[in-house]
This record gives sequence, C-alpha cells and structure tokens, in this order.
Amino acid sequence: MEGNQKERRAISQIEEIFGEHEGYRRAHARGTGYKGTFEGSGQAMELTDAAHFRQAKVPVLVRFSHFSPDPTWADAMSPVKGMAIQFKIGPEEVTNIVSVTSPVFFTHSPERFMEMLEVSRSFQRGRPKLGELAELLMDFPEVRAMFSSVKKMTVPESFATGIYHSIHAFYFEKKGKRQAVKYLFEPEAGEDKRSLKDMKDLPFGYYEQELAERIARSPASFKLYAIIGEAGDPTDDPTRDWPKDRERVYLGRLTIEAPEAEAEQALYDPTVMTAGISCSDDPILQFRRGAYRHSYEKRIAENEGTKKH
Ligand code: HEM
Repeated sequence: MEGNQKERRAISQIEEIFGEHEGYRRAHARGTGYKGTFEGSGQAMELTDAAHFRQAKVPVLVRFSHFSPDPTWADAMSPVKGMAIQFKIGPEEVTNIVSVTSPVFFTHSPERFMEMLEVSRSFQRGRPKLGELAELLMDFPEVRAMFSSVKKMTVPESFATGIYHSIHAFYFEKKGKRQAVKYLFEPEAGEDKRSLKDMKDLPFGYYEQELAERIARSPASFKLYAIIGEAGDPTDDPTRDWPKDRERVYLGRLTIEAPEAEAEQALYDPTVMTAGISCSDDPILQFRRGAYRHSYEKRIAENEGTKKH
C-alpha cells in the first residue's frame, strides 16, 4: 500500500471493531483537556538546545485519556491511561510529547498491529471483554507477555498520579552529536495505584471528575525526565523497555492549571518536534504520524458537520 493508505486502513479496521464514534478520536476517544505551563530546568543544555528544555516557562495544552477507541467503555475497561502534551514554544511553533501509563507497546511493527486488528474482528461486537480479546490474540507471543502483565497490572488512582512513558526513543541533538532518550513523567503528588479488580465498581467518568475536583483545589504537577540510552539499548522496538538503572536528566516541571476546550480538540502528533530533537526510526512511531492526522481530519470534519463539541 502506498502513501498513507496503510494508516487509513488501520483506522478503518479500528472502526470496524470498536464502532464508528463520530466526532471522537479513533483511539483514546474519551479524555479531558487542560492548560498549564512547563518550566524547563536548563539541565539538558549539553545535549539539546530544544526551546522548552531551556530555563524558561512555556504554555502547554494537556489532554488525559482512557486508551479505548470506544468512548462508551467504562473507566475500568481502559487500564492504560494517556497524557498528551503540546508545548507552545513560539507564536506558530509547537512540540509534542504523547505518553501512557505503560512502558511498552504490544507490537513492534505496523503490519503486525494490523494483523492483530484483523484477528480481533471476530471479536463480539458492542462490548468486547478484555478476556475474550486475550484469548483471540494468544497466538502472538508479544501479546501473551503483555496480557500476563495486565493481569498483575495496577492502574493509577487518578490521572494525576500515574507514571507516564513516551515508550518510543527520540534523539537529542547538539553540535553534530546525538543521544538516544526516552521520556518519563513522575507525578509530584506521588504514584498512587489501585488493582484492576478494585476498579470495577468505579462510576463512568470517575477519572475526569476526580481530576476536575483535584485541579479546582490546586494545580497537578509532574517532573519530566529524559532517560539516557546506552549502547545496545533498542531505539526501534517499542515492545522493549530499557534497563531500569539508566541515568536520568531532569528536564523540567509540568503544571496543569485549568480546564481548556482547545486541549480536547488539538492534534498531538507524536512526531512533531522542535529543532534539537528528532524521531528515532521506530516504525510504530513513524506510522502514528499518518494515523493521527487521518483520525484528526475525520473527527474535526464530523464535529464541524454536527456542531458537536
Ligand atoms: C500502531 C500504533 C498506533 C496507532 C495506529 C495509534 C492510533 C491512534 C489514533 C488514531 C489516535 C487518535 C488521534 C487523534 O484523533 O488525534 C491515538 C491517540 C493516542 N495514542 Fe495512539 N496509536 C498507536 C500507538 C500508540 C503508542 C505506542 C502510544 C504510546 C505513547 C500511543 C498513545 C496515544 C495517546 C496517549 C493518544 C491520545 C492523544 C490525545 O489525547 O490526543 N499510541 N492513537
């Protein structure tokens, strides 16, 4: 398939399985938008001149989300939560980080991702259960590993108390040198977890409401770190995390201050970044560019058509 054809096909496959939910993102459909600031630490200046990591404050849009492509799924059905950030570093310039509460993704190539979607089509329509999906995907060894960790998985108690990972590697670049990094956000409120079992009685929309109440009392904040890759750490395979002992550089502090409608509409393309940072050759990361653009164009057209916001 040529051009963005593959990405478009993947979006159609998602719609066939999880339903077409007009006006919503085709993944991470339900979420909540905020604005705030990011204050760079200036501690990565030897590795990159990227504007948002200098010692200065920039405005940000932040969107928290539940991973499901179906916005009607209960909070508990989406054990993985997302945090997407757009740093507004200039009048016309933004740079993004899109992160989730899992250090790894479940597949390493777009082709494999689409194969898995194909298998999942036999999935009972409407309200598929994670258990049924797990059974269907047991032939994929990488999925087996992921589901066994989901069973033991804990979920953040609040959007504001999760540890969020970029999963993919990126390069910091300066003076002809480059350094592989991954991003990690740690909540200043401390990590707070519940088991999947404890989540089943949560009311629909609990996470959005809890966050709104929390931020009405005081801002939520995260510390952002760059994990410094070493020789041999994979930069093109999102199913493989790096060893835990890697050095970290503190990049700055994210503060989330108030609800913001623009943050719900925005496109957080994980490949959009400013000078001083570049994408790794991870095929999943490259694939996301076209898939997000296509989903964005669909939902914006649908929202304009129905005036639904
Ligand atoms: C084959 C790989 C993937 C595909 C096809 C895919 C697809 C999508 C799509 C279509 C959207 C909605 C975009 C929009 O309408 O703006 C989305 C959102 C999202 N994805 Fe992915 N994704 C993939 C991998 C990942 C990975 C590896 C991560 C881990 C960081 C991730 C995290 C997110 C998050 C946090 C959002 C919500 C962003 C927002 O709030 O706007 N995705 N994904």
